[in-house]
Amino acid sequence: MSASDDVTAAKEATGRAAADLVEDGMRVGLGTGSTVHFTIVALGERQPDIVCTATSVRTHDLATSLGLQVVAPDEIGALDIAIDGADEVDPQLNLTKGGGGAHTREKVVAEMSPRFVVVVDESKLVDHLGPFGTPLEVLEFAPGVVTSRLEALGARRVTTRDERSDNGNLLMDAHFERVAHPDRLAASLAAVPGIVEHGIFLGSTVERVIVAGADGSVRELRH
Ligand code: 5RP
Repeated sequence: MSASDDVTAAKEATGRAAADLVEDGMRVGLGTGSTVHFTIVALGERQPDIVCTATSVRTHDLATSLGLQVVAPDEIGALDIAIDGADEVDPQLNLTKGGGGAHTREKVVAEMSPRFVVVVDESKLVDHLGPFGTPLEVLEFAPGVVTSRLEALGARRVTTRDERSDNGNLLMDAHFERVAHPDRLAASLAAVPGIVEHGIFLGSTVERVIVAGADGSVRELRH
């Protein structure tokens, strides 16, 4: 098996493990990405009696194509569990999210649930957030002004992606290299006018991280 096959197998193992937490009667938040994809596929196979809300158009389309009931966040109101992937996980379970550009909706959905479960392969585990870059959803109005503010906060480089978010906004990545204090950076980014949402999710919001290794092992990280 190639290294990329190993990563895909690990994503499937963790994604499917999270699906086992979903029980009949639950209201479920469905994240976005290639790992939670396998959670959604597993739920589609099992067809539990659940109502879901989706964090992106592509998750909505996947889940509905598999026969799952998906409604808008306002229609569902509150969730029992939300399951999503991540781009980085540090030892305090702080996360970088937004590699797929869906972090604004992902944060709304994660905060609707008392249980936020994260699924990753072990390549996502880091000592400190930062190497991936910090995804940002930004209003098109003044990206240059936002970039200056990010540089003042310590960003070495700020890039803008070609694609837009599902909300029609710009997607940018700020490279802080090593984020020593995710809580402080999260607060600073939240205070920049023009940033709709940043991709730092604090570990205090995470119930557990399900991690799969290339050897097929699955383990959980909790506080
Ligand atoms: C999308 C996200 C994803 O959860 C994150 O990028 C991880 O994706 P993948 O499971 O494909 O590695 O935050 O905005």
